[in-house]
Amino acid sequence: MAENIGLARGLTNYGDAGFSLYLRRSFAKSMGYSDEMLSRPVVGIADSKSGFNNCHRHFPELIEAVKRGVLAAGGLPIEFPTVSLGEVFLSPTSMMFRNLMAMDVEEMIRAQPMDAVVLVGGCDKTVPAQLMGAASADLPAVQLLAGPMMPTSFHGERLGACTDCRRFWALHRAGKVDQAGISEVEGNLATTAGTCAVMGTASTMASIAEALGMALPGSAAIPAVHADRLRAAEASGRRAVELAHKPIRPSQVITANSVENALRVLLAIGGSTNAIVHLTAIAGRAGLRVDLDRLNELSDSTPVLVDLKPTGQHYMSDLYAAGGVGAVLRELRPLLHLDCLTVTGETLGERLAHEEGAWVDRAVVRPLAEPLEKVGGLVALFGSLAPNGAILKRSAADPKLFEKEGRAVVFTSLDDLAARVDDPALDVAPEDFMVLQNAGPKSGYAMPEAGYLPIPAKLARAGLKDMVRISDARMSGTAYGTIVLHVSPEAAVGGPLALVKNGDRIRLSVKSRRIDLVVPEAELAQRKATWRAPVAAPARGYARLYMEHVLQAEDGCDFDFLRKT
Ligand code: FES
Repeated sequence: MAENIGLARGLTNYGDAGFSLYLRRSFAKSMGYSDEMLSRPVVGIADSKSGFNNCHRHFPELIEAVKRGVLAAGGLPIEFPTVSLGEVFLSPTSMMFRNLMAMDVEEMIRAQPMDAVVLVGGCDKTVPAQLMGAASADLPAVQLLAGPMMPTSFHGERLGACTDCRRFWALHRAGKVDQAGISEVEGNLATTAGTCAVMGTASTMASIAEALGMALPGSAAIPAVHADRLRAAEASGRRAVELAHKPIRPSQVITANSVENALRVLLAIGGSTNAIVHLTAIAGRAGLRVDLDRLNELSDSTPVLVDLKPTGQHYMSDLYAAGGVGAVLRELRPLLHLDCLTVTGETLGERLAHEEGAWVDRAVVRPLAEPLEKVGGLVALFGSLAPNGAILKRSAADPKLFEKEGRAVVFTSLDDLAARVDDPALDVAPEDFMVLQNAGPKSGYAMPEAGYLPIPAKLARAGLKDMVRISDARMSGTAYGTIVLHVSPEAAVGGPLALVKNGDRIRLSVKSRRIDLVVPEAELAQRKATWRAPVAAPARGYARLYMEHVLQAEDGCDFDFLRKT
């Protein structure tokens, strides 16, 4: 076996390299491998399957297909388990564990003998975690996505997680769908393997993985249950073997220009606000910054082209049938950096040249000259309430609320929100601004997707669909509304959000990209003097590591010691 290839890489240290290799081969042979197999380059397959992750339930079949591709190309496939993050099965929120999974992926890629790796993930936090880990390990890597779920036909309409989950829950809260009805809907929202069926965080991150050049061309949108998904898995395995022989490293693919391409795609697909945080974290592993002012410039010059829920009509499987992410990239070509290298070994421009003239369904992917919206879906806001930035998904918001001043109705925590939001005595009116404090990265809740504050029941029953809501939390990529998120610095570290009181005036101007707390500075200084941090760092374990090292949203909520300096 050639030195430093395959199983000879990274030997366990017994103080005698020859003994280490002999012992490793001996133990590998206990798994029935032949000498021929043990002489091959090794492709690791990072498997994030878990019984707590419905989105990944088809991974055994997918991984068989990856192995087929690796074997056919002359490699030895060896899968290994990593942390899995099933979005709705984790408490307090999957976000708290994204960095744990990223550390796991990074360290297991580095510690185990492999020449390249196929990262198999899909549910919201798994793809960013895998890309963060792979970027830090910097071993050749191919991202293989889970693929989206199929929507379900139900009572004459199509349902798909999770925009429809929220729509029906809002109807239930407003008294328009009874308990029997909501129970029936519950069984029809998520009916196949795969990730949420709309342009939520998982679909957005899949699209970003392809736009960055880390996933194979055309692979992001293939439905989880489509045979093409298995062919993409086989091709990913095959390509990983080629990368083992002729490495292209994540550091060559994840560059300032490819990150900017990914931001363009994020804006053009009307993607999730969460993707800003995740892409910032991935870029941070490559020593790159995602600048929120630059995001605004890109947003103003990138039209929305894709008509998918939660902002549009279609599902992710429709995007695949319409031409996939390639169709979006081809429309965006004049705005993209075409010289970016991808894991295929081709540049983005070379890839798009091959796809010239491919079929596009214009009902789903609009031409650049006739977009759905002339400007991108996301903007960053700055101002006295968010000196380091906040995010608004303007494509999912009500433009009538964009230039507005309102009275703050403050909830000091998620528990306070849950206790009082539906209280008939709550002093709240449609024109008020709902403010949630202490739901950011260091709040003890670990920045959950709680920014989609429920409309108070008495207003919802009266027919109110949207109002301005402000917090340091995130929101699900499948949610919608005039919702200002990721306010930084967060309340739990004493940011201005912590100082807001009931009745304060807040001014939102999307046109000026501002969110301001209209309270005299002297008054704020007085409030700051008596402010106390709401939570102490946990005494032990991962929760303590998290609390001591997690960064704010503008740094991707990565750990300070994991970013590339
Ligand atoms: Fe896994 Fe939505 S719950 S992608």
